[in-house]
Amino acid sequence: MKKIIVAIDGYSACGKSTTAKILAARLAYVYIDTGAMYRAVALYFIQHYINSTNPKAVAEALNQIQISFVHNNKTDVCETYLNGLNVEAEIRKMYVSEKVSEVSAIPAVRKHLVDLQQKLARKRGVVMDGRDIGTHVFPDAELKIFMVADMNVRAFRRQQELFERKQIVDLEDIIANIQSRDLMDTTREESPLRKAADAYEIDTTYITVEEQVDCIMNLAIGKMIEKEYRLEDI
Ligand code: DC
Repeated sequence: MKKIIVAIDGYSACGKSTTAKILAARLAYVYIDTGAMYRAVALYFIQHYINSTNPKAVAEALNQIQISFVHNNKTDVCETYLNGLNVEAEIRKMYVSEKVSEVSAIPAVRKHLVDLQQKLARKRGVVMDGRDIGTHVFPDAELKIFMVADMNVRAFRRQQELFERKQIVDLEDIIANIQSRDLMDTTREESPLRKAADAYEIDTTYITVEEQVDCIMNLAIGKMIEKEYRLEDI
């Protein structure tokens, strides 16, 4: 069967990564968490006191950054590495969440990471989640999903996720962080978060992860069949 690209975009904490991960495993596709890439860059900027408003400092920093993903067989999680160090836990912490939207609004950072994302999915057969995948990184993705959910549900899910990582954070702090990221992600000049015209919108407020995955899986199968039997390819 011909391989497709599944682009999953949406607001923070709507369940994109959880859904994308399971979907990729079911399709035997590669999963690429583009948010983790922006988080890794934000972590580097924090650790090296990079001034986001200084283009020269930003360009030099980007040259020093190597991001990779390595599958951990024990946890069955694809973990993020920054310059050879496993930063999977660190990039999920609140201090990184508080910085990441600022860093991801820098045009040079976006260009650098979008180039990398396009290279990673050269051969298709990927599920990629983020904010601009269907609109900017892969406007030709065969399947585009846009995920939304109620704010309280999003915050509660993020709180549970942090708790599982042994971090206890107040719901109010999480809501404030999500609201400010929503605002920055949708209002930045460079490829802001938008629903692509040809994306399917899925509201995850009242559905389970299994239902989300099943729904996208059915759409993906439909798109794969469509691609397989396109008249011009026969
Ligand atoms: O998906 P996430 O919450 O881990 O993403 C972290 C931040 O990275 C998010 O606030 C916006 C930014 N981001 C982006 O600008 N473009 C992407 N494709 C993915 C994430």
